[in-house]
Amino acid sequence: MILLDGKKIANDLKVEIKRVVEQRVEDEKKIPHLAAVLIGNDGASLTYVGSKVRSCDQIGFKSTLIRLEENISEKILLQKIYELNQDDSLDGYIVQLPLPKHIDEEKILLAIDPNKDVDGFHPANFGKMALEMEAFIPATPFGIIELIDRYGIETSGKHCVVIGRSHIVGRPISILMSQKGKAGNATVTVAHSRTKNIKELTLNADIIISALGIPEFLRADMVKKGVVVIDVGITRVPDKGAPKGYVIKGDVAFDEVSKKASAITPVPGGVGPMTIAMLLKNTLLACQRKD
Ligand code: GUN
Repeated sequence: MILLDGKKIANDLKVEIKRVVEQRVEDEKKIPHLAAVLIGNDGASLTYVGSKVRSCDQIGFKSTLIRLEENISEKILLQKIYELNQDDSLDGYIVQLPLPKHIDEEKILLAIDPNKDVDGFHPANFGKMALEMEAFIPATPFGIIELIDRYGIETSGKHCVVIGRSHIVGRPISILMSQKGKAGNATVTVAHSRTKNIKELTLNADIIISALGIPEFLRADMVKKGVVVIDVGITRVPDKGAPKGYVIKGDVAFDEVSKKASAITPVPGGVGPMTIAMLLKNTLLACQRKD
């Protein structure tokens, strides 16, 4: 069984990006600059955005963290977005999701300049991605593709079952894996909360990508021997014995499924670090496009 070590591959990617940044410094070219907008004090969002900013520092990017109050009005947030769109010093920025309930997420994502949308959430980028045009690909599916590719896992002609149809992971990864590019040419089935025969589907899958958010949903009796499993789940499960009062659980019952799998991602240390690395990659691409 191969452990798909996202932490290691993400570090390799960061080293590669750092080298490119050092070369840019030598060539007196612009240093990539990423900004992150964080609204409110959600614990998980604070952790993720903190990692994104720290990673920028590690590889020599400039970074700006913009923290806004939980009760900020939609109008003021939109003004902030327009300012970021106008700011030539910024190559890309993200607005961390989820947003407070009183803010219309769709309106906010539509206001982001697609050329700075390094999350790849704007419909212009999503549409271009679906049409195999140059686009910012959302970081999590982009990271899954890179991880599969760097481990040399064959996807062509394989049956890939994606569990989940979110705009951030399930939907884009299902599109990418059926396309002709890297880690592509798979036959993809998308399963979701209304799917009736999920076990029947997963038992027939060569590759399973689970982005459901239900801890340990995928059990050993649901997979065939030799399956490749990508676990995108990162749910905080309360645990009084744990130092932080919770443990992070994936969608996959790792101990039992790993005994049947030919390759599997751990949680943590699988897809999570790849997501951050690919956000950095998108920011570098945004900067390079302006050269
Ligand atoms: N919330 C969970 N994942 C993401 C992500 O990739 N980008 C943003 N902006 N918010 C998220």
